[in-house]
Formats: sequence, C-alpha cells, structure tokens
Amino acid sequence: MKLDFTNKVVLITGGAGGFGVDAARSFASKGAKIALVDLSQEALDNVAKELSLPADDLLLVAADVAKEDNIVSYVNKTKEKFGRIDIFFNNAGIEGVVSKLADYPSDVFNKVIDINVKGAYLGMKYVLQVMREQNSGNIINVSSVAGLAGMPDLSAYVTSKFAIIGMTRSAAVENAPLGIRVNAICPAMVNTRMMRSVEEGMAGENAAQAKAAFEQTIPLGRYGEVEEISSLVMFLASEEAAFITGVFLPIDGGFTA
Ligand SMILES: NC(=O)c1ccc[n+]([C@@H]2O[C@H](COP(=O)([O-])OP(=O)(O)OC[C@H]3O[C@@H](n4cnc5c(N)ncnc54)[C@H](O)[C@@H]3O)[C@@H](O)[C@H]2O)c1
Repeated sequence: MKLDFTNKVVLITGGAGGFGVDAARSFASKGAKIALVDLSQEALDNVAKELSLPADDLLLVAADVAKEDNIVSYVNKTKEKFGRIDIFFNNAGIEGVVSKLADYPSDVFNKVIDINVKGAYLGMKYVLQVMREQNSGNIINVSSVAGLAGMPDLSAYVTSKFAIIGMTRSAAVENAPLGIRVNAICPAMVNTRMMRSVEEGMAGENAAQAKAAFEQTIPLGRYGEVEEISSLVMFLASEEAAFITGVFLPIDGGFTA
C-alpha cells in the first residue's frame, strides 16, 4: 500500500490527545507537514518535542474548538503557514459525564454538543472553504460505535457521535464533485485517557472491572490501540481510498458485528 504524504499538509484537532498525537507521529513519518490544534499550548509544546519536526513543517495552535473565532483562527494560521490544507483529521472531542439521560446535567450536555458537534461542524465549514478553493482535500471525522447504537449513561456523547455521521454524509455528497472526500471512523473502546475517564465514571475505584466488562463486549477481546486508529485514518486520507467517500467505518474488533 502506498502511503506517501510527502509535503501534504495535515491539520489535526485534539492534537495533544491520544488519537491526535499518534496521527501526527504517523503522518509525519510519511513526510507530511503537520498543524496541531488543542486547548493547551503547554501540551502542544510537549508533543512538538516528541515529534521533533523541523520548524517549517510544524504549526502549533492553542485553540478551543467550541469557539467559532478560534476555529477561524486555526484554519487561517494553517493556510498562512502552509498555503493549503490537504487532510483534516477533525478529531477533538470530549466524553461528557457518565449519567442517566433523566439526570444528565444540562451544562455538560451543552458542552459536549458545543465541542463534539458544533466544533466538528464549524471545523469542516471553514476547512472546506479552503479545500473548495483548491478543488481537493480529504476530511476524516471521528464518530464512534456510540454513533451507531445507543449506549447507557453516555447519552450526550452518543447524541454527538450520531450527529458526526449526518454531517459527514452531507458534506461528502456536497463536495464529491470537487474531488473532496469526507469520511467518518467509528472506533470502539481504544486505550487513551478518554476510556480511563469513562471507566472511572462507570465504576469509580473499580475501573479495572469496568474495563474488563467492556472488553467482553468486543469479539476480539481487547481495546483498540491508537496505532490501529492511525492506520485507518492514513488509509482513508491516501490515494488508496480514492473511491471511498461518505462512509462511517467501524474499527471495533467486531463490536458492532
Ligand atoms: N478513546 C476511545 O475509546 C474513542 C472511541 C471512539 C471515538 N473516540 C473519539 O476520538 C477522538 C479523540 O479521542 P481520544 O481518545 O484521543 O481522547 P483524548 O482525551 O486523549 O484526546 C482528545 C483531545 O481533544 C482535546 N480537546 C478537548 N476539547 C477541546 C476543545 N474544546 N478544543 C480543542 N481541543 C479539545 C483534548 O485536550 C485532548 O487533547 C474524540 O473525538 C473521541 O470522542 C475515542
């Protein structure tokens, strides 16, 4: 499989988190220039140390994807530095809290929707303006198996991840005539900070038991790893996937099977 991203510009939100850092590392190893967006400058600086890319090939933008002006800013800064955006890994997201819908705190619901839905939607909006000028581009949105079926005690998160699929499919059909592809990935549980938080929310001190219970729901018997997510993201972003657009692809160890 040809995975060559030499001189391609890859913009990644949630760039200091589990999926984001590994995607940055993976794309950089194939020659890409990387723009990383996350909340904290300090966290981004730490990722930069690890990536050790030349300054010309790396842009760090501290931004909150819940704020439209911050989104405009990270898109503009990427365009200013690199002149284009080839690949957008629209990945920033939060889990919210573990709670029954009937008790779900409305302020947390709003925050989940602001970040996971509006942040992803407006990210696409402004990145697509750049990609439509280029007549090319590739967007990978991050849904979840929680975007394919209901899940107890995570209703705001589930709501947000269903929404990702709707926006992905709409953007895919709108932009296909311009050669821009838009897809979504639907991971099951993957070993990152986010799952540690969900396990603790479900079971407190017995988080290890919650993890074991989750693992039992996955036919392959384990969580996914971030490297496995990056492999799929790179495939979808590559020419090998040139005829794939508008899909929402489970990467779930058989969870949805
Ligand atoms: N880990 C899993 O099991 C799993 C499964 C399915 C889908 N996902 C999705 O994958 C994506 C990445 O998750 P992860 O596991 O890497 O989690 P993570 O918590 O390790 O990383 C998420 C990153 O997003 C950043 N972020 C949060 N709010 C932000 C905001 N308002 N503005 C900018 N950045 C913000 C965080 O600071 C963090 O660095 C999320 O959208 C998540 O919902 C994760």
